[in-house]
Amino acid sequence: MEPENDIFEALNCQQSGRRQFLRFLLMSPLLGSAGLIDPWSIVTKTASAQDGVSTATVIDEIHPSYDSPFPSGKYPLTSCSDATNVFQFKDAARTKLTPKTFHFIESGADDLKTVQANREAFDLLQIRARRLVDVSSVDTSVDLFGSDMKTPVILAPVGVQEQLHPQGELASVRAAASRKSLFTVAMLSSYSVGEIAAEAKGPLWFQLYPSPDRKTTLQMLKQAEDAGSEVLVLTVDGPVRGNREREFWYQSHSKKRSFPRMGNMEAIKGRLRIGDPSLTWEYLEWLKTNTKMKVVLKGIVTREDARLCRKYGADGLIVSNHGGRQEESNRGTIECLPEVVKAVDGKIPVLVDSGFRRGTDIFKALALGAQAICIGRPYLWGLASFGEEGVGKVLDLLNAELIRIMQLAGTPSIQSINRKYLEMKS
Ligand code: FNR
Repeated sequence: MEPENDIFEALNCQQSGRRQFLRFLLMSPLLGSAGLIDPWSIVTKTASAQDGVSTATVIDEIHPSYDSPFPSGKYPLTSCSDATNVFQFKDAARTKLTPKTFHFIESGADDLKTVQANREAFDLLQIRARRLVDVSSVDTSVDLFGSDMKTPVILAPVGVQEQLHPQGELASVRAAASRKSLFTVAMLSSYSVGEIAAEAKGPLWFQLYPSPDRKTTLQMLKQAEDAGSEVLVLTVDGPVRGNREREFWYQSHSKKRSFPRMGNMEAIKGRLRIGDPSLTWEYLEWLKTNTKMKVVLKGIVTREDARLCRKYGADGLIVSNHGGRQEESNRGTIECLPEVVKAVDGKIPVLVDSGFRRGTDIFKALALGAQAICIGRPYLWGLASFGEEGVGKVLDLLNAELIRIMQLAGTPSIQSINRKYLEMKS
């Protein structure tokens, strides 16, 4: 068997045993007391009265292995330019946001096992670095649907960003544009797609949630097309909302009931419900006949659905579990990626998101056949703490880390990264 095929088979067979072992190690009180591993550090916080969550005590668990090498709270950022990794922005965001908004970002489904799996699964892959390759110049550019990007890192759709910073999506899109990255406007964005496009100075993508209200959906599509969006990202992982208990707890304990602005909804005449549990693949066919935009499905995690994407005419897909916010699958997206890439067989671009925090994570996804990756929470932490500058710094850090690992592994361009640079941990 060729080494690159090993990865496919091995990823699907070996990981459960390894993960059990990792978990056993992490949960072992003996290791914790010996000072080797601090299994689950428990931080007790008193929620702020500002949130309307009176004096309730909240237990906030931080898992050290899958979070920062800088323990939470110990290396605070004094300025944006001080940051050395994206995790530091999470701490900074925590100090800027109310607990309700912070946990809106951080929340995940059920027991957060999928959030954790998204990070943990990267550890199952090792990088096989090659030596004596000319890496004096490194090219990270990517061509996706004709947009010439200088980086394979895209900003994923996230709604109501005004809750994190007054400039919201305007700040995020400016940071993305200045780095020649791409910004995906969420259907539920605070600012309208037109307002965001005015700041974009380049290509823009638009995300849509399926809705049973097709006439009003057409109005939404027209807004996106008029604003110049060339790609429609259809999010298909939400027939119902995931069970994000911490997010819902804060919502229900909040005395202040505020309804955030949603710029794209303001121009809609009629009702536009979000999510429709009765929708099937026919919806994709309907969309394809009703928009000029390329349609990319976000939320695909299996080979079966990857094949259906091709059958029903999707122009691309994003392997995503919504950052672990929807079904509690206990399956990291980097584990789902190989079977999807194999099923697509190079016919349409495959992107991936959920849990990307390091340049090496990006390298591993590219090596497994992804054309680009998307980030969610890291740029939200940057936005909440330092606005446009923070989002820009998050992109800069990830790009710098990617360039560094490309140089260290002997891969001077994105095209040169392939499965031969990876191995499963034994
Ligand atoms: C999201 N995500 C998301 N996705 C989408 O298609 N439409 C949306 O409106 C939102 N909103 C949203 C809000 C918040 C607070 C988060 C954290 C995420 C999912 C997002 O696009 C992306 O898939 C994940 O965020 C990727 O995982 P990481 O990078 O956050 O781990």
